[in-house]
Amino acid sequence: MTSKTGENSNEWTTMKSERKLVREIVDELGLDKKVIWPRLEIVGDIAVLRKPMSIKLDSKTIVMYKKIAEILYNRIPFIRSVWLAYTPVSEVSKTRKYLLLAGTNKSETIYREFGCKFKLDIRKVYFSPRLNFEHGWFANFIQECDSILNMFAGIGFFSIIPACNKKTISYAIDLNPHAYRYLMENIMINEVEDRVYALHGDSSILTTLLSQHRKFTHVIMPYPEKALSYLPVAIKAIEKCGYLHIYLHTDIPKENHFRKVANLVSSKLNKYTDKTHEITRIRQVRTVGPRYGQYVVTVRIC
Ligand SMILES: C[S@@+](CC[C@H](N)C(=O)[O-])C[C@H]1O[C@@H](n2cnc3c(N)ncnc32)[C@H](O)[C@@H]1O
Repeated sequence: MTSKTGENSNEWTTMKSERKLVREIVDELGLDKKVIWPRLEIVGDIAVLRKPMSIKLDSKTIVMYKKIAEILYNRIPFIRSVWLAYTPVSEVSKTRKYLLLAGTNKSETIYREFGCKFKLDIRKVYFSPRLNFEHGWFANFIQECDSILNMFAGIGFFSIIPACNKKTISYAIDLNPHAYRYLMENIMINEVEDRVYALHGDSSILTTLLSQHRKFTHVIMPYPEKALSYLPVAIKAIEKCGYLHIYLHTDIPKENHFRKVANLVSSKLNKYTDKTHEITRIRQVRTVGPRYGQYVVTVRIC
């Protein structure tokens, strides 16, 4: 068996995309692509296969996924365990249910992004490597002396990455006790205790309390299912002039999808504030279902 080096995944994934590797294995095993097609994500030394929701989890599919997992485990030198994510994300903590397919029964790992380290347990907190681009974009967009309110912080990417690289002050809120614990640990691991403050609880209450004492140049709302309903409290937390970063889900029309997203956000902002606003960026982060997309909208409010 291949020896396990425990190296970080970043270098390896640039050599061969996860998608290509799974395709090769599915072909090698002669499996029906339409039936079994899983997605693969590498998180530190853990590989996660994602079962499409259209596939039933029965003993036959588990055997097939175990075969794929064995090959992955043997082929990727630093992988210590392979898990199957077999449910959609839960409503509030945004976590999935997992089944161990190969390797050791260990779901905690260290993942690296933009020079920062993040400890996390894939079974206890939300994590998506597909937000990687947005984490980098945000950290880059932020200026040296900005202040950030991260209303749905998870384990802290949107607060810790800017603080690792710039002298930004950030308040990071999350409701999930496990996310809060890892958030605090990640603040210490990255030595940003003087710049990132973790808060545990409901963002609506904590943002309202916080905004009575201080305002922020950036308020980020990375919770696409609920961000629009938290807009009234988010707006109150912004400095005289500042930015809102809103994540949302909406259906994707055949044409003008950015216009549709802009109209949706503008109509909400006009309802909740007399300040003027300018949408400075809209990006489709990913598709989340047939003709359904996740978007991020950056708005300057003054
Ligand atoms: C999509 S995840 C956040 C992703 C994270 N910012 C990242 O970059 O990976 C949404 C987070 O919102 C948290 N959450 C859900 N409802 C909340 C609430 N009412 N107040 C605070 N946090 C909440 C969940 O626990 C989850 O960690």
